[in-house]
Amino acid sequence: MKITDILTVEHTVFRTFFDQAERALPGLKTAAEIKLLARLAEKLLHSHGESEQDLAYAVLDHMLKEKGHLSRLYSDHREMDARMEQVCMANDLAEARQLMQSAMIMSREHFRYEEQTVFPLIDQVLQNKSLVKLGEAWKQKYAGLTG
Ligand SMILES: [Fe+2]
Ligand SMILES: [Fe+2]
Repeated sequence: MKITDILTVEHTVFRTFFDQAERALPGLKTAAEIKLLARLAEKLLHSHGESEQDLAYAVLDHMLKEKGHLSRLYSDHREMDARMEQVCMANDLAEARQLMQSAMIMSREHFRYEEQTVFPLIDQVLQNKSLVKLGEAWKQKYAGLTG
């Protein structure tokens, strides 16, 4: 599987997680419950962002920089971490709910940007063989799978 396809599948998992969280948010009774969701999302998003940076962006660093994408990608990743962290610092239930909602909107927007603009560029520049090889590296590094 190509690295760009693997990362897109991960986005789909996040979208499902966010859909469920959005559905649950109005019914949650304490800020602590929302903070738990944010902490979980933060850990998973951070790991996903690291995979992207190590296995996809690093390979095309120069080209992405030239096209003006690189700084947005890295700053988006920092902002996604920071927004989930802000949820964990919220003072009350209403604030936690609002911050969680906007953190998920921002993450969804970032996924769209990657899928519509950045991943097609990566697919275009790298050979299929290299994309699959990076997919294999992802499996070894993050899932402990081979073959
Ligand atoms: Fe990303
Ligand atoms: Fe991503």
